[in-house]
Amino acid sequence: MGAPLPTAERLAVLEGARAAPPGATWALLGVVGHERYVEAREHKELAARSPSLGRPEAARAALIPIRKSEAWWALPQEERRAIFEERSRHIATSLKYLPAVARRLHHSRDLGEPFDFLTWFEFAPVDEAGFDELVAMLRATDEWGFVEREVDIRLER
Ligand code: HEM
Repeated sequence: MGAPLPTAERLAVLEGARAAPPGATWALLGVVGHERYVEAREHKELAARSPSLGRPEAARAALIPIRKSEAWWALPQEERRAIFEERSRHIATSLKYLPAVARRLHHSRDLGEPFDFLTWFEFAPVDEAGFDELVAMLRATDEWGFVEREVDIRLER
């Protein structure tokens, strides 16, 4: 959805880098920040069921940069939470796909980047179909009505 990114052969994930490595086709920057929408009960359940990144069997990954609309950012926090969870069930739905999928959310909006979020997921090849199903469900939610650019990049090693 929205403009794609130029095709690249390989992707490097660099921790702590602040600029693009020389010769890169494109580079995206994000920081891991605090949770904005998660309530205490959800936080506990997520912590109990989330696997860590870097599992040897997780040979597939998805990098999905996402930008939401100005209309989303203009909403008060509690309305964003209501759309995100009470109406779209982002957490409740996604929890069913744990522990197959490891994830990390990076925030980019306040860095002046082209996307608001860099979402990152790792899973085993056998769990890719389940991951696709989850992505399709999320894309059909009210929350995604506010997504104006999304690029779905799949990786394998
Ligand atoms: C694998 C299972 C998943 C789980 C457990 C999960 C869980 C969460 C949680 C708890 C948050 C809220 C973080 C906060 O409080 O700030 C969040 C935010 C987000 N997730 Fe997911 N998620 C999953 C899959 C996905 C997928 C597949 C996508 C993209 C296709 C996605 C895109 C996002 C985005 C863009 C946000 C930021 C929303 C915002 O701040 O407006 N998530 N996710």
